[in-house]
Amino acid sequence: MPKHVAIIMDGNGRWAQKQGQERLFGHQHGIRPIRTTMDACRKMGIRYLTLYAFSTENWKRPHDEVEGLWDLLTQAISDETETLLKNNIRLRVIGNIAALSPKAKRSLQECLEATQHNTDFVIILALNYGGRNEIVTAAQTLAQQALDGKIKPQDIDEQTFANAMMTAAIPDPDLLIRTGGELRISNFLLWQAAYAELYFTPVLWPDFDEQDFKDAITAFQQRERRLGTITAQYL
Ligand code: IPE
Ligand code: IPE
Ligand code: MG
Repeated sequence: MPKHVAIIMDGNGRWAQKQGQERLFGHQHGIRPIRTTMDACRKMGIRYLTLYAFSTENWKRPHDEVEGLWDLLTQAISDETETLLKNNIRLRVIGNIAALSPKAKRSLQECLEATQHNTDFVIILALNYGGRNEIVTAAQTLAQQALDGKIKPQDIDEQTFANAMMTAAIPDPDLLIRTGGELRISNFLLWQAAYAELYFTPVLWPDFDEQDFKDAITAFQQRERRLGTITAQYL
């Protein structure tokens, strides 16, 4: 079983357009599969789930879609807080949160604080997240520490760097799923996914159900994770 699954939830817009609806209709229908996936993870004993909900590049979309998406995300976070509390689930966030609207920040902050001591399961939302932005921010943090004399440049190693990332203390994802049929990473978890198994499915995110998730896990279990070694060493 993977410890940590990360998902690029893609295909909402196409799902809506296929039925002659506005793109936002697709985003509205993208909330249900989040619950389904979270429940499936918990049943299977997976401890961490990271969901790519809004990228640093998604601001380039039409204003109405961007607004609608944030309203939806803000509402979903408020609505789910009680369920997270009841089920001992902790919410974490990666991404540049400072740039969000006061309303989005407030609902997020409330949920983060309310669930901060929960231990059964961690859901990590990537909001205004970009992998390159995260790496640059970590580099700035470390450069400042070096300037302040707290660390020496030559002491910076992979562990130091990992600790300066927004995902500090979260294990790297073992499995990275992308729905919607595109075969790319789109600036998601560039550092952390170095050895993740990649799984691409044409299923559009609003249609993604428990069986689709199980199929991804089954595919993961059939992979041979050599991590740089050869088969004989791995087995
Ligand atoms: C993914 O669905 C959701 C977000 C990026 C927020 P899209 O909106 O990218 O859907 P497609 O790829 O256009 O179908
Ligand atoms: C990636 O999907 C971002 C999220 C799922 C939040 P996009 O739809 O934005 O990615 P591209 O534009 O197809 O690369
Ligand atoms: Mg897309």
